[in-house]
Amino acid sequence: MKILTVFGTRPEAIKMAPLVRQLEKEPGLESVVCVTAQHREMLDQVLELFELTPDFDLNVMKPNQSVSQISTNVLLGMERVLNEVQPDMVLVHGDTTTTFASALAAFYQKIPVGHVEAGLRTYDKYSPYPEEMNRILTGHIAELHFAPTERNRQNLLKENIADDKIFITGNTVIDALLTVAEKPYEFEDETLMRIDFDRHRVITVTCHRRENLGENMINIFSAVRDIAREFDDVEIVYPVHLNPKVRAAADEVLGGTERVHLIQPLQYQPFVNLMARSHFIITDSGGMQEEAPALGKPVLVVRRETERPEAVEAGTVKLAGVERDTIYSLAKELLTDQRIYDAMAKAVNPYGDGKACQRITDIIKSL
Ligand code: UD1
Ligand code: UDP
Repeated sequence: MKILTVFGTRPEAIKMAPLVRQLEKEPGLESVVCVTAQHREMLDQVLELFELTPDFDLNVMKPNQSVSQISTNVLLGMERVLNEVQPDMVLVHGDTTTTFASALAAFYQKIPVGHVEAGLRTYDKYSPYPEEMNRILTGHIAELHFAPTERNRQNLLKENIADDKIFITGNTVIDALLTVAEKPYEFEDETLMRIDFDRHRVITVTCHRRENLGENMINIFSAVRDIAREFDDVEIVYPVHLNPKVRAAADEVLGGTERVHLIQPLQYQPFVNLMARSHFIITDSGGMQEEAPALGKPVLVVRRETERPEAVEAGTVKLAGVERDTIYSLAKELLTDQRIYDAMAKAVNPYGDGKACQRITDIIKSL
């Protein structure tokens, strides 16, 4: 059986790399990898870490390109790759435009699609945008649905996806996290090497979502600046996403602020170690809502909604919204109220046990 795995952005690569490794090991399966390179540098960082050399690289990234441009270029590129590879199945991940356009290209050639990280929903088609709709559309193209949690399975059942096509596997992000979190690691980044993690409380910040670009991002960064100015034992580390719009907003609001470090995106291993040594995390990332609880770190999610309510229910993630005052107050609370901090800082792992890739591979083989 020939399996073509397709991904294009940093988080997809992190979550698909351990699966590709697993597929490669299985006798009877031939693994072919295509990257769309919707991201370039941020994707290459992950490929390097996991020592993956793709068989095909569509190289679609152009600075500041629109979602329509990404979709069109992936759709056309995938048509060529599918014609050449003739896979028995295409595996896609999650909710990016690479995911949806690749699934659509496979559908046009009547090649079955397996959807990894299926069934997450906010039920707001514009938030996250365009991810919620990418995920729904991919779900309706897919033949096999690898759902991380029971809630994700229930979401799919509500959309009349057949029960016998849905498999609860856990999230492959935990597989990825475990491969790097357990290894000893010393920072090589100069900024991180200079930070005294024992005497200072570090807050890791990331922010990139399209629906947060503009006013929301200014509010979020202003709240972060307020915290940095008020607490002189706090250091903020923000590896800024390479999206030029995000970088401009970060520079405008946070640039030059004392104890705020705006750095380049980190390789996954140093980033996981940064999260593990941080006091808490402020983010709008999807994947970090899954990783940080496993590391026992409180997370303030700077979004109005989340498709990952499991960790909110477990008490380690709080939805902080996108208003400056609320984000500031919740961060201040975590810095000043030990009881609230301790209640959030507990390792919970509703997203998997590190064996998702083995399960997915076994299911594919059994078919
Ligand atoms: C994309 C995904 C989003 C995912 C996120 C993870 C879509 C529409 N968006 O959002 O679902 O959560 O990735 O980070 O699928 N850039 C670089 N180098 C890189 C990466 C990006 O320069 O390695 C710059 C380019 O100018 C690019 C821009 O960032 O045009 C935006 O990238 P894009 O993939 O369109 O959107 P993201 O916001 O990264
Ligand atoms: N990450 C990383 N380096 C960084 C910032 C994030 O390796 O500098 C990892 C993080 O641990 C998580 C993923 O990238 O696994 C999150 O990616 P992103 O926030 O771009 O996308 P999302 O999770 O929102 O889809």
